[in-house]
Amino acid sequence: MKAVTYHGRRDVRIDTVPDPRIEEPTDAIVRITSTAICGSDLHLYEVLGPFIDEGDVLGHEPMGVVEAVGSEVTHIRPGDRVVIPFNISCGHCFMCDQGLYTQCETTQVRDHGKGAALFGYTKLYGQVPGGQAEYLRVPQAHFGPVKVPDGPPDDRFLYLSDVLPTSWQAVEYAAIPEGGSVAVFGLGPIGQMTARIARHRGARQVIGIDLVPERLKMARDHGIETIEVSGRNGIADQLRDRTAGRGPDSVIDAVGMEAHGATVGKLAQDLASLLPDKVASKMIEKAGVDRLAVLHHCIDSVRRGGTISLSGVYGGMVDPMPMMDLFDKQIQLRMGQANVKRWIDDLMPLVTDESDPLDVEGLATHRVPLSDAPHAYEIFQRKQDGAIKVVLQP
Ligand SMILES: NC(=O)c1ccc[n+]([C@@H]2O[C@H](COP(=O)([O-])OP(=O)(O)OC[C@H]3O[C@@H](n4cnc5c(N)ncnc54)[C@H](O)[C@@H]3O)[C@@H](O)[C@H]2O)c1
Ligand SMILES: [Zn+2]
Ligand SMILES: [Zn+2]
Repeated sequence: MKAVTYHGRRDVRIDTVPDPRIEEPTDAIVRITSTAICGSDLHLYEVLGPFIDEGDVLGHEPMGVVEAVGSEVTHIRPGDRVVIPFNISCGHCFMCDQGLYTQCETTQVRDHGKGAALFGYTKLYGQVPGGQAEYLRVPQAHFGPVKVPDGPPDDRFLYLSDVLPTSWQAVEYAAIPEGGSVAVFGLGPIGQMTARIARHRGARQVIGIDLVPERLKMARDHGIETIEVSGRNGIADQLRDRTAGRGPDSVIDAVGMEAHGATVGKLAQDLASLLPDKVASKMIEKAGVDRLAVLHHCIDSVRRGGTISLSGVYGGMVDPMPMMDLFDKQIQLRMGQANVKRWIDDLMPLVTDESDPLDVEGLATHRVPLSDAPHAYEIFQRKQDGAIKVVLQP
């Protein structure tokens, strides 16, 4: 089959790889019909190379049609239309019982001291072949796949794999008080949906922040106030100006480790990319190369006693944190990968509602064949050609 594979920094290709097959009674094989590129894939493309091997299949936002199931998979059968959550979890361990599917004790990657395995996301998360491919082997398929109705276009359901649950959890963790205010840093796919969900769930004031004009426009088109990041920062002051001088009740970081405007981290990341994998991976894990500009803005701008919710991915270890501000302002901080299945029951009524209240059908700016993946990664990373969300169609 054809699959999108990693070959080095900013180098993904289409390779022919062996067709996946059932290996465990809990497996399923899914023929992929749509599979999106995520901002998290850009971290692989740019800085996390030391943890990936050449030829690894990328992708963790797939959906399609079940081709085959193992003997212990009973909630889906061949021919069913399914979305595959990006976390691989068993559904019946101590962690899964609490809805902490990202911490599943059956699939935790203990060799690297990490949580549940993920599709297409480095050795740290199990080196499981990903979903940007014609077919996908789904481990723990007795639990993971979410069955969706036939009929509506793929875009209605595709984002249940990651973008929607991630955004829902970001809003949940942000604990926006009734009728309160929230700022969302980053208006990529996650920030867009986070802002829409915050409004949908009753936030009175939602302010989105980014530097890319068409991303700001997309947010405004959905009724979100925006602030454009420009050369001179003052973002926190602008946020205070708009929120009675106090700062937003809650602040969500939907940017993560590659924030623009963090020169030291940027230098470290560029340096790491020049080192041999062995050295670089140590440096990333132990020394930390995150670009924390946005996290610092979050801490500065959130009101005293407010909540910061991080959905942007971070990986460093020793980045200095302003503990004095966190403590003095009495800030609550919540974060983590999305426990995808925990939020599906909240989201399913919205994506099946005929009026498409979250406008999921309007999120993809590009739908291209799998073979265009190299170009698609490039324009998504460089924010060219209006790319906000790219869906590959194998
Ligand atoms: N927690 C999870 O489970 C989970 C799931 C999916 C994605 N993520 C993470 O969420 C983040 C966003 O993902 P995405 O798909 O929307 O990616 P994206 O790269 O399209 O979005 C990031 C956005 O941040 C903006 N940005 C960069 N620097 C900024 C700054 N200084 N101030 C304001 N905005 C800035 C960029 O212009 C871009 O629009 C990534 O870090 C991704 O890894 C986390
Ligand atoms: Zn993703
Ligand atoms: Zn589990």
